[in-house]
Amino acid sequence: MTIKTLTISAVTALALTATGALAAVAEGPKEDVDFSFEGPFGAFDEFQLQRGLQVYTEVCAACHGLQYVPIRTLADEGGPHLPEDQVRAYAAQNFEVFDAELDDFRPAKQTDNFPANTAVGAPDLSLMAKARAGFHGPYGTGLSQLFNGMGGAEYITWILTSYTGEEKTEAGVTLYENTAFPGGWISMAPPLDDGLVDYADGHSNDQQALAEDVSAFLMWTAEPKMMARKQAGLTGVLFLVLLSVLLYLTNKRIWKPVKNRTKA
Ligand code: HEC
Repeated sequence: MTIKTLTISAVTALALTATGALAAVAEGPKEDVDFSFEGPFGAFDEFQLQRGLQVYTEVCAACHGLQYVPIRTLADEGGPHLPEDQVRAYAAQNFEVFDAELDDFRPAKQTDNFPANTAVGAPDLSLMAKARAGFHGPYGTGLSQLFNGMGGAEYITWILTSYTGEEKTEAGVTLYENTAFPGGWISMAPPLDDGLVDYADGHSNDQQALAEDVSAFLMWTAEPKMMARKQAGLTGVLFLVLLSVLLYLTNKRIWKPVKNRTKA
């Protein structure tokens, strides 16, 4: 194959995947959410993470744990980036942990992890945004994944906003109809309402906004080093591009005398 045919097939393959990515957005049963951390240059919005932390703390923490997340990472750059003293105060005010040495509960410190879950049947949320995918099949692959992610954060947003209001009781358990949940019925009562959480910065707090903020926060708990990973990947790609160009030019130069000879 010549360089030309290779280039043509590469461009065609790219174009095909790209139309797949567009179709995923247009055809999907649910809306894609344009999260700031998606795409090769995406980054977490620290203010959104801080609002999401507030939603988690005031609402979700009543049932769900985040046992794999160290509280001190709330101060991390690229994450919520809270000042150290605020993290310390946050830990002490909101959580208690059992201390084996004291044989008693004490207020949490920033060196502790968030507590494990308390409510029956409520899964730990630390890794939930990576454990679930909103975009499946071909739409969860290739360029679509590069630009829109796997949809873990979208899945959580959809779950929180897709209640129909119908309920039923089965074997003593109340189930709530939810069009985003596989099977259609979930045992989690609708946790969010418009205006349920008040933001100090006056940011919109309707149900959709609250859901998106807490989903972004849960994406961060599931992949706190996403920024560093993207940066390393991008540096790698740029390096390889540069290397390819140099190799191409070197190749040209090395074979130049030979090519000229055959032509003559
Ligand atoms: C009153 C307790 C309670 C509260 C409050 C609550 N949840 Fe849940 N949640 C549950 C239970 C129980 C389940 C398991 C549902 C099931 O599997 O049927 C669940 C399941 C989930 C799931 C997993 C769905 C799946 O695919 O398995 C997610 C995501 C979730 N909750 C997110 C949240 C978020 C975010 C909040 C805060 C805005 C929240 N929950 C508040 C009880 C709660």
